Amino acid sequence: MNTLNYKQFRILLVDDEVDNLANLLFALEMTFDLVTAASGAEALDIMAREKIAVIITDQRMPNMTGAELLGRVKESFPDTVRILITAYADIDAAISAINTGDVYRYIGKDSSIDEIEAYIKQAIEHYQVKAENLRLYALLAESRKIGAIGALAAGVAHEINTPTHYIGENLRFVLESFQNVEEVLRRYEKLKKAVPLDGEPLAALLADLDDLHEQIELGYLREEIPAALKQSLEGNQRVADIVRAMKLFCHPGQDEMVPTNLNQGIMSTITLSRNEWKYVAELITQLDPNLPPVNCLPGEINQVILNIIVNAAHAIGEKFATSPEQKGEITIQTLHNEDNVEIRIGDNGQGIPPANQSRVFDHFFTTKEAGKGTGQGLAIAHSVIVEKHHGTLTFETSPGQGTTFIIRLPFLPAEASEQLLPQPLS
Ligand SMILES: Nc1ncnc2c1ncn2[C@@H]1O[C@H](COP(=O)(O)OP(=O)(O)OP(=O)(O)O)[C@@H](O)[C@H]1O
Ligand SMILES: [Mg+2]
Repeated sequence: MNTLNYKQFRILLVDDEVDNLANLLFALEMTFDLVTAASGAEALDIMAREKIAVIITDQRMPNMTGAELLGRVKESFPDTVRILITAYADIDAAISAINTGDVYRYIGKDSSIDEIEAYIKQAIEHYQVKAENLRLYALLAESRKIGAIGALAAGVAHEINTPTHYIGENLRFVLESFQNVEEVLRRYEKLKKAVPLDGEPLAALLADLDDLHEQIELGYLREEIPAALKQSLEGNQRVADIVRAMKLFCHPGQDEMVPTNLNQGIMSTITLSRNEWKYVAELITQLDPNLPPVNCLPGEINQVILNIIVNAAHAIGEKFATSPEQKGEITIQTLHNEDNVEIRIGDNGQGIPPANQSRVFDHFFTTKEAGKGTGQGLAIAHSVIVEKHHGTLTFETSPGQGTTFIIRLPFLPAEASEQLLPQPLS
């Protein structure tokens, strides 16, 4: 950290007493890039316009106290590191701000300039580490996104292989049996030509045909050929569904919010992940047929749904580990009200024990063995839903009984949702 250039980071000083500000500014401006504000409102204005690494505010100010200001900064600009300056008389406000997590540290009014400088340097270093973490998390999320299709690839290949196999078998069967049918048709032609002749050759020809029917089991072919064709068409449809689901799931290059039919995304994610859950669970959908489109990043939402489905399958797999013939149940529900759309993904797996409940959204928290889980799924899901979509991601769980994850995504303001159109399938 010695090489850190502190001047690269903008520091905001807030105090209604101009003299105090001037003194601090004078003493620190050689070391830091400083801006000043004389009130909480002015500080928030500045922060809305420019990126501030560290905010240092006096506690005692009219209209908005320093602690109140930092509470709002935490809401709106969570990355900025927050420092409160207080006189000893206001120590309670400082303690309470620290306890609510609104403040990174507090500085006593009587601190020396050297101390203040050291605190600001520490705060910048803290900011830098946090920023680096965020960058790494974003990178992780990105590589995981690329990895998701890779992780599903074996299952998807298996899913495509089964229908492709029987389509091939059926087509071969139809082709071979058609040679026999062709022979029947040939003899009918012969028969037709023979009809004007007298009865004798006709009888022989008919007997010959009967023999052939029997030999090639014509009744069987008449039933089986259409059945084989029908099954092939179904298989073909399944392959087409999987391919379409892959397209919908990936949404390559789409990093813009677009009006999206979430039911469709859910169905394609279910199709693609079938191999992940079909051995342990039945999957039941209760999708709201009137679900309005939601403005979102569809590829990312699908990732979230995938992570939660895979977790549900794992939780069920764990619970029934000793009786694998027993299947669990995953239920996916969509519903909406005026303000938001809700996706509920429930399982009757092992549930989350109380000790883990506050940790499941932490990066790298996992209870799974290496290779099965890395503890990133829910952390990424949380950042996608809460930070990128301003929604909520919560869960209800009852250990031993199961867990339901609840995603809520807010609608956009009216003018934006006017353009909401269903996504064309291509
Ligand atoms: N539906 C669930 N039922 C029970 N426990 C769950 C459920 N979903 C998540 N958990 C718990 O939360 C932990 C964290 O989940 P998360 O998806 O973040 O990581 P992971 O599944 O362990 O690994 P990854 O998703 O990165 O492969 C899991 O290890 C598990 O203990
Ligand atoms: Mg997971």
